[in-house]
Amino acid sequence: MAYIRTPVATNLRQTRQCRSSPRCLVVALSISFLALNWVVLYSFHRPSVDTALDAADAPPREEPPSLQLYPASAYLSSSNNEALWAGHWFRWRGLDSSYADQTTDPLRFDIVYTWVNGSDPALQQLRHDYQRQSPVFSMQGVGDSKNVESVTARRFRDMDELRYSVRSTAEYAKDMFRRIHLLTTETSEGQGQVPVWLNLPSDEIETVPHSIIFRNKGHLPSFNSLAIESNIHHIPGLSDVFMYLNDDVFLGTTMLPSDIWTELYGFVFHMEGGLLVPPTIRPTESNPLNVGEWSSLQYSNYLLSQRFGPRYRAYLAHVPHVLSVSMLSEIQDQWPEDFDSTSSHRFRGEGEARDIQVSFFMAHYVLEKMRETQLSSYWTYRLDQNGDGMLDWNEREVLIDMVESWNRGQTPNSPRNARPSMIAGYDRVLKRVGTPLSGSTSYRLAGLDGYPFLLQNADTSKTIPVSVTKNSEGRDVQPQSPYRNYESSQSRTCQLDLQFCLGENFSMPSVPIIPIAETRQIFERLAFKEFHCGDCLLQMLMQHPEEGGMGAWMPQDEGSVAFQRVVHDVKRYNYVLGTSDYSFFALQDVKGATNNLNYLVAARDNKAFFCINDDYPDNPDLEKQIFGIFKNFLDTRFPVSSPWEKP
Ligand SMILES: *[C@@H]1O[C@H](CO)[C@@H](O)[C@H](O)[C@H]1NC(C)=O
Ligand SMILES: *[C@@H]1O[C@H](CO)[C@@H](O)[C@H](O)[C@H]1NC(C)=O
Repeated sequence: MAYIRTPVATNLRQTRQCRSSPRCLVVALSISFLALNWVVLYSFHRPSVDTALDAADAPPREEPPSLQLYPASAYLSSSNNEALWAGHWFRWRGLDSSYADQTTDPLRFDIVYTWVNGSDPALQQLRHDYQRQSPVFSMQGVGDSKNVESVTARRFRDMDELRYSVRSTAEYAKDMFRRIHLLTTETSEGQGQVPVWLNLPSDEIETVPHSIIFRNKGHLPSFNSLAIESNIHHIPGLSDVFMYLNDDVFLGTTMLPSDIWTELYGFVFHMEGGLLVPPTIRPTESNPLNVGEWSSLQYSNYLLSQRFGPRYRAYLAHVPHVLSVSMLSEIQDQWPEDFDSTSSHRFRGEGEARDIQVSFFMAHYVLEKMRETQLSSYWTYRLDQNGDGMLDWNEREVLIDMVESWNRGQTPNSPRNARPSMIAGYDRVLKRVGTPLSGSTSYRLAGLDGYPFLLQNADTSKTIPVSVTKNSEGRDVQPQSPYRNYESSQSRTCQLDLQFCLGENFSMPSVPIIPIAETRQIFERLAFKEFHCGDCLLQMLMQHPEEGGMGAWMPQDEGSVAFQRVVHDVKRYNYVLGTSDYSFFALQDVKGATNNLNYLVAARDNKAFFCINDDYPDNPDLEKQIFGIFKNFLDTRFPVSSPWEKP
């Protein structure tokens, strides 16, 4: 075991001392090179020796003061076996063969749909009654206009999408899911709507009336999908990881569990790096009935920004979303008031549309927590070598030297000896552990490689602006422009301004010790307030060529509680960004609808997902025509009944 650990696990201090001698440098580089190759090429043939076991016999070290930035929630309850393979994987990008060879039951996840039959007269009556009490509908110039009917009717119109979306699930996700839960509105107490075609009871599909999941029954009935989603994780018996679909989303190619989550790479999020949600609250709409999803997205990002830094965050693609019960509970514990107020908004637009959008919120929360885990692990367990919570000059000098050498290497097109990505060869790796891939999703970037939305050319000598500015030609200049997800993490560059990012005292040898409180302030500023500084520091640590796996920022002692805690959190917040071929469009008029639907028929075997929004204006003739075209498409595309349809 020493053959792998010794050369790679040199701590940064030793590496630096070594580098000052040319002969030593050559030796160090070639050893690291061999070690890196060893990790990458032979990781799957490693004998299942568990050095962490030996290390566990060592006398316990005193636990360094923690910044308490990540909750050390449940890692002790996780089985030791799990901690071991995960530790190997994250630290060395190596697989424990006993783990790789184990045959476990294939994972299966639950699927959740929200559904309301807006064509049901009982539902319409109920909605009318509550509209009269809602502040949104009593606003001047809004309440009595025809607008009310048209907007709400469109939002609730039932085009029988659910039946076909469930058919698509039955056909394409049959090896992925365990149960389907349909969240339904109650038109009378305890009586949730049931789709007419659904054959109940069934072991595989159930309806869950809202009163089962709403903690505060006074919020019911609810006509606001955001409010319903804020309670989604309360479905009894739901699998921890689950997939959430609106009924206008359809699957078009085979889906497997690895399209939403894997043990090694965590959650699979689909994000659109080219469509960014600002970190500021959106001005209230003059007509609150017209609020779309952006109010809630911006409000969600506003909350995230207060906690993790004011950045633009990528929109989630219109595909099925992966969610987690325990993650949503963790988030709800931290933002209880916002979950409660979102849940209380019976109609969209109430409460100035300050709603949490749980899919967006959770995905970005996970991204941020992974980043925070990595940065704070480095800060607490590596930078602060003696673990006293203060930074003395020797400790700071290691980082200063590293940054200066990194900055010199950051010229465009300069060849870099970067660490291999954690998702390099992920298809082979997953195959090795018996996790099949469907081909519907490609993994592009891994949270294990750093924050995926590093800004291009970010100036780390000043604060990044938040609002859009105008250039000399009067065009809008976006304040924040991240690398796109097809640009690999290794090819990205950044410069870290020591003075601005770490403050003056940090680089001054005449300041012998930076006390605990100031050390924490520097971290808060670097990691969150001036987030582009933290991003660049992380990029530097991730691309540190002399370290294999996650060696540059994980605690070095693999037997320590600190190491286990970091492994636990990395596993918990682990994720990749994936891409899939999918389509999203709205049915607006006959010609457009026909063309778009014909295109979907032609692209039949390629589209992993498609989302079809009915957005046509209220006009009975047009509605009938478009409904006919759409229904015809659905019947052609998904002709086979799902097992849960009445004969
Ligand atoms: C929705 O309600 C209408 C009116 O009651 C009914 O005709 C229709 O079948 C319902 N749709 C579903 C899918 O249950
Ligand atoms: C820098 O150090 C000096 C002296 O140790 C201290 O008075 C000052 O508050 C420190 N600066 C910051 C920003 O904390």
